[in-house]
Amino acid sequence: MERRVNRQWRLASYPEGLPRESTFRYEEGPVPEPAEGQVLIRSLYLSVDPYQRGRMSSRRSYAKPMEIGDVIVGGVVGQVMRSRHPGYREGQFVVGLLGWQDYALSDGEGLRRVDLEPGLLPGALGVLGMPGLTAYFGLLEVGRPKPGETVVVSGAAGAVGLVVGQIAKIKGCRAVGLSGTDEKAALLREMGFDAAINYKSAADIREALAQACPRGVDVYFDNVGGPITDAALTLINLKARIIICGQISQYNATRPPRGPRQFHLILAARARLQGILVSDWEDRYEEGLAALAGWIREGRLRYRETVAEGFENAPVAFLGLFHGHNVGKMLVKVADPAV
Ligand SMILES: NC(=O)c1ccc[n+]([C@@H]2O[C@H](COP(=O)([O-])OP(=O)(O)OC[C@H]3O[C@@H](n4cnc5c(N)ncnc54)[C@H](OP(=O)(O)O)[C@@H]3O)[C@@H](O)[C@H]2O)c1
Repeated sequence: MERRVNRQWRLASYPEGLPRESTFRYEEGPVPEPAEGQVLIRSLYLSVDPYQRGRMSSRRSYAKPMEIGDVIVGGVVGQVMRSRHPGYREGQFVVGLLGWQDYALSDGEGLRRVDLEPGLLPGALGVLGMPGLTAYFGLLEVGRPKPGETVVVSGAAGAVGLVVGQIAKIKGCRAVGLSGTDEKAALLREMGFDAAINYKSAADIREALAQACPRGVDVYFDNVGGPITDAALTLINLKARIIICGQISQYNATRPPRGPRQFHLILAARARLQGILVSDWEDRYEEGLAALAGWIREGRLRYRETVAEGFENAPVAFLGLFHGHNVGKMLVKVADPAV
């Protein structure tokens, strides 16, 4: 059933440290009317992502911060309810950065049509969306894994990490993952990782990693930073590739992180360390999506989603990312598609 109000989550304040529920403000507004050239989209699934924390801060980053009062920036899978745009028709599914709200207008800029059956729509925010593409291009273009090499991924049971480890296996590598519970470690093994470490219960992360990587580390795909990364860097091989994808362990830090400065290890190994941003491959998304979809069809790539129910739960779902409450992609279901 169509709603008469547009529920929105807006930024109430810039958080110091870990965001809280009071970081967000709930509001209701009118459902907007599309002008000529626009479409009205109803949100079905909202994405909650670690990068949103970066937008809640005035710290220098690759994207402009949100202003206080802005609708929370975020990816959405939605359905076109009204179209005054020649490229879209009512009923179509789309994905775009439409924000945490029930309804958004779009002129088509940054919007992508989603050709998935309704039950698979969440995938457009996960394995067949931004996180899957991050894993695909980050690992293959920057990590350049070769058969027989060892690929280590942190945040391994999350949206990006699960895909990284499985692509590493598809490419004939040894895949080693770090995650925060025994259940997640068991899932990684079930998904084909050769070794999985619960970094929270390991007595010594470096020792556990060394055991899991008897031939050292050729590719380290970093989603978390901090002590896990310090440990991984001590095990890199000659010409290792280090992909700095995310640093979630640092996102809520209130002062610059300190820690072992391991750059002599990069020097000694003549390693390459590179930060990545998935949107740098925007012109190749179709290629990435086709490859990921192909592996899913062949049963070589599996995925998980953690779906919170209800618009009101978006802030809690987002906060859960910092406590490891998700397995695979975390998202929020807000409505069923109209038939
Ligand atoms: N560069 C890019 O273009 C790009 C694109 C997408 C994502 N990213 C980055 O990639 C990383 C993963 O993103 P995602 O969407 O796949 O998130 P995710 O891994 O699905 O969710 C976040 C996970 O991080 C782990 N975590 C939280 N705090 C941690 C800490 N202090 N130390 C270690 N692990 C911690 C938790 O799992 P555990 O239970 O294992 O602790 C949590 O489930 C993030 O850093 C994100 O910012 C970058």
